[in-house]
Amino acid sequence: MRHATFRQMEIFEAVARLGSFTRASEELFLTQPTVSMQIRKLSDAVGLPLYEQIGKRIHLTEVGVELARTAREIVGAMERMDMSVAQMQGLQKGRLRLAVVTTAKYFAPMLLGAFSRSHPGITLSLKVTNRERVLERVAENLDDLYILSDPLDGLGLVAEAFLDNPLLVLAAPGHPLARARRISLETLAREPFLMREPGSGTRDAIENIFAARGLKINVRMELGSNEAIKQAIVAGLGISVLSRHVLVAGRDDPVVLDVEGFPVMRHWHVAYPHGCQLSVAAQAFREFLLRETAKERGSGHAAPAHAQPGIPAQAHPAARPTRARRALA
Ligand code: PGA
Repeated sequence: MRHATFRQMEIFEAVARLGSFTRASEELFLTQPTVSMQIRKLSDAVGLPLYEQIGKRIHLTEVGVELARTAREIVGAMERMDMSVAQMQGLQKGRLRLAVVTTAKYFAPMLLGAFSRSHPGITLSLKVTNRERVLERVAENLDDLYILSDPLDGLGLVAEAFLDNPLLVLAAPGHPLARARRISLETLAREPFLMREPGSGTRDAIENIFAARGLKINVRMELGSNEAIKQAIVAGLGISVLSRHVLVAGRDDPVVLDVEGFPVMRHWHVAYPHGCQLSVAAQAFREFLLRETAKERGSGHAAPAHAQPGIPAQAHPAARPTRARRALA
């Protein structure tokens, strides 16, 4: 038995499972004489016959049944080992291409940083662009994973929500509405509004909120980035609706207005196209992301408990132990 080889055990496992030399040779891409010869050598090594042939069927002897069980265990163990090696190789020198919508840039780099500290061999690339462009990248299959907000129905994506993405109404600190309570959407619609560019998911969401109430937005200016809008709000050019993630607790931040129906809750999703096989690196990052944000999901904190005038929405008291988690605040 000591002289039996792994290859012989692998061939015998296939013969025993398929009950045929012909089918085993097809599965293993070997000629039938090679299969027969290897089984004969294995039988010699064992010192007992492993099968009887009745007609075209192979019937295993008692020792053949025992050996088939052992062969299955050995082949299974080798397959598991192969998978572990592939996993380790993928995590040691894999590549991860991530594309995110603009607002996710406030936390995606932190998450990537934390991930890369534990997987230094993985090469990372991060593309930040608006929703329309992210969806074009999905269609062109340019990246491994995507981070974007709902709605995602009908986009052909496998998506998992990992964090709330509340939309807040923001104004300059000295704005006349800054101290008002329960501001109506009608009042808001009359205010000069700073709007993101066409193709922005934030813009779509805002337009839907107002359209659902039959209101027209008084757009004063169109700007191509959340940062530009934030600065324009502080400069007194108008109000806007932006994700809570855009606020970073600086001295010059806008204030959050208390408007009926707000914050409007959206959700961040990590997604990839249906039918796409994730790389080991992408799978590892997806798991890391879901693990890092599990606490936030559990706490259900993301709705700013203090969407009140003058109080930056991100001044949330919950302790966040890791740097990546702090970025999600
Ligand atoms: P945007 O998307 O960067 O295109 O506005 C943000 C979002 O959909 O949450």
